Amino acid sequence: MAEEQMKYKFPSGFIWGTATSAHQIEGGNENNWTEWEQDGHIKDGSVSGRAANSYELHAEDIKLVKELNNNAYRFSIEWSRIEPQRGRWDKVELRHYQKIIEECRRNDIEPFVTLYHWTQPLWFAEMGGWLNKQSPLIFRNYVEQVVKFLGSGVTFWCTINEPMVYAYNSYWLGKWPPQGKSFFKFNQVINNLAQAHRLAYFILHEKNSRCQVGAAKNNQFFEPYLDTWLNRTAVNFIRRYWNHSWLKKIKDTSDYLAVNYYFHNLLYVSLRGYVLMNENKIISDLGWEVYPEGIGAVLKELRGYQLPIYVLENGLADASDEKRADFIRAHLRSVRQAIAEGADVRGYFHWSLMDNFEWADGFEPKFGLYQVDFKTFKRTPRPSAAAYAEICKNNGL
Ligand code: FCB
Repeated sequence: MAEEQMKYKFPSGFIWGTATSAHQIEGGNENNWTEWEQDGHIKDGSVSGRAANSYELHAEDIKLVKELNNNAYRFSIEWSRIEPQRGRWDKVELRHYQKIIEECRRNDIEPFVTLYHWTQPLWFAEMGGWLNKQSPLIFRNYVEQVVKFLGSGVTFWCTINEPMVYAYNSYWLGKWPPQGKSFFKFNQVINNLAQAHRLAYFILHEKNSRCQVGAAKNNQFFEPYLDTWLNRTAVNFIRRYWNHSWLKKIKDTSDYLAVNYYFHNLLYVSLRGYVLMNENKIISDLGWEVYPEGIGAVLKELRGYQLPIYVLENGLADASDEKRADFIRAHLRSVRQAIAEGADVRGYFHWSLMDNFEWADGFEPKFGLYQVDFKTFKRTPRPSAAAYAEICKNNGL
């Protein structure tokens, strides 16, 4: 037992956190998603509405982070609040985020601040969003205002959340706003997001040379379904493309790499085409396979970049909470093993602190360590919250 405990002790100074995003928890937003939701696109028929009302309850929510013995909290800034019209900066909203940062600091919680977590001001969406050639510059101007106001309180910035997932769903699959269905557009968006990241990196560093800038990349563990040359080659290709092509574009303007890990995929290729599948031994409420070995594998894949790594998201939809504690333990063992094998992982953030608005899936999936009653906004810890708090307190398991 003692030996086991030693084995999964994390390096000292390890960052333990939970993650959220503005649109999913704040409530009262007016952005391109709010508009789209009103057209009945959400699976359970809901709209984000007041979400978890964290805009008003942010101080209480930081207490929840503290109760988990976290030393960090990842949240995002809602661009549409800061710049409701192009070039008009809302000081009251900037002050709102400043309060969140101050509250974190008072509680010895390191804020990890995301600048773009998928939602856009309406005027930006109307200009064509990330398809517009000017979009990286427009984003840079927003970041400049944010860092002018909030920069002294923030060390860790995450410029963009999951660029490929966002661009894939919004411009290739046509599932999310603005429902584009073109590889060409997808590619253009990917490139503009990379350029936006680079410009943001420079402006953030200009204001504070010691800040740490990265972007959260959704990386997946791909394996061949059959051990044949064709399947191995296809896996190599998809791994390089999905996990590494965007990172390569931004690695010279990144102080750290960030991974969001949710998926394991077995790729089956034949002359008739390809299919991605998993064996579905244990699945979450969304049908996503639980595959803890994968997190270690994707972390080890990043060793070559020689940059510190943070897991900025990992979690599952589990309303009954029967799987979450084991999920966390198993994923953390895999992270710890990856560290032992040379991956420079400095922190882990669980998705999510509380139940929230899960994009096109609405309020149905329950990702929270805290359950939220969306009528009263009461937060109640699920049993797994205590399990995670214990791990964070002990710096390991
Ligand atoms: C990630 C998103 C996050 C949340 C989780 C479940 O892809 O970054 O906002 O929706 O999935």
